[in-house]
Amino acid sequence: MRILILGSGGRECAFAWKFSKELAIENIFIAPGNAGTSQYGTNVNLSITDFNQIGSFCIKNNIDFILPGGEDSLVAGIRNYFENREDLKKIYVFGPDVQGAMLEGSKEFSKKFMTKYNIPTARFKSFNKEQIELAFEFLKTLKSPYVIKADGLAAGKGVLICNSISEAKDAIKDMLKNDIFGTAGNTIVIEEFLSGIEVSFFAITDGNNYILLPEAKDYKRIGENDTGLNTGGMGAVSPVIFADNKFKEKVVEKIVNPTIYGLKNENINYRGFIFFGLINVNNEPYVIEYNCRMGDPETETVLPRLKTSLSEIIKKSKMGQLSSLQPEFINEYCTTVILVSKGYPGNYEKGKKIIINDVNDSLIFHAGTKFENAETQSNGGRVLAVTSIDNSLEGALKKCYNSINKIQYDGMNFRKDIGKDLLNYK
Ligand code: AMP
Ligand code: GLY
Repeated sequence: MRILILGSGGRECAFAWKFSKELAIENIFIAPGNAGTSQYGTNVNLSITDFNQIGSFCIKNNIDFILPGGEDSLVAGIRNYFENREDLKKIYVFGPDVQGAMLEGSKEFSKKFMTKYNIPTARFKSFNKEQIELAFEFLKTLKSPYVIKADGLAAGKGVLICNSISEAKDAIKDMLKNDIFGTAGNTIVIEEFLSGIEVSFFAITDGNNYILLPEAKDYKRIGENDTGLNTGGMGAVSPVIFADNKFKEKVVEKIVNPTIYGLKNENINYRGFIFFGLINVNNEPYVIEYNCRMGDPETETVLPRLKTSLSEIIKKSKMGQLSSLQPEFINEYCTTVILVSKGYPGNYEKGKKIIINDVNDSLIFHAGTKFENAETQSNGGRVLAVTSIDNSLEGALKKCYNSINKIQYDGMNFRKDIGKDLLNYK
């Protein structure tokens, strides 16, 4: 089995690490990868949305499987491209086609899908450029705060939470009239604000059957106690204490099963990961969003708990035999703390030399790094993911923070409170 992973973040590094325990290193390729992924396979300099170039590489290198890490290549149709080209169709793209990727690529689509299949989610309405006045009217039926979302992909920035009606009206005008999110904001979704604690669930499906991976909670804000700007994710923990068996049963019955059923019923030939971004409102799960891929940094926290071979899971998916597989997980806590560049998620500098001294208690997945001038340097906002496993949440976090003490680069920043809310959760 020869596999090409698309992407260059901590998530893709964690995928490469997992495969390196299952496959020979010469069978693992990462495009474009980073300084960490090259320990587990070969980095190749390909653009993740240049499907022609990716196709030529795959043919030349006998690639059997492609795992797109992020949503961009999926939403842009990598699977359709490979399935529609005679010379590429035997290569198995492990992810949804354009239609399936709309679960993430269009908020309007996913909200309508949830309504049709009775999947719990916040009350909403969608509006286009001609419907600004109607959007203003709908605001009056909601209570503050108001949630205004751009329909399309907006690099994680397309959701605005507004405290007053006038702020919400400005947000609506900014998206529908002033195009602050470009065409992603040609349609908007306005929805009711749900108050609760967030948790993410992950399924892998072959279109008919699915397996669930362990759940995780990520920490999105840059500042401690969930303050400041949103980021890609500053850390994650798994398992999540409030996601007990009763809650999980509700997630499966009310959300996962109807989602898999709905996709089939819509004739969407979905395969790959489904990320359920949920919120727990008084012990009832609601869907905030779907993603058509794994999360980052959740992958760095979930994969180390997966004992079962991921390459076996993907092979079984190809054969339509996922149901024959009983995945096994490590029954311990896994935590990830993300080290970022000074200034992130605003402007930041790159090219800082990274020094890692004898870290034994943690896995270090590289995110924004490169190897240049014979040294490892920072090359992005999120730089490294430090992951640890222990039989207690406290122990896993302690290992992460001890390991971080052995890492240095100019401007290193991280949250010191990852998992703290769950340590004290009642
Ligand atoms: P999304 O891109 O849809 O996941 O939204 C980004 C973030 O905005 C979520 O992770 C939530 O923290 C917040 N959010 C989105 N929708 C809602 C909602 N209806 N109620 C409360 N918070 C929300
Ligand atoms: N960590 C959230 C995401 O990957 O979308």
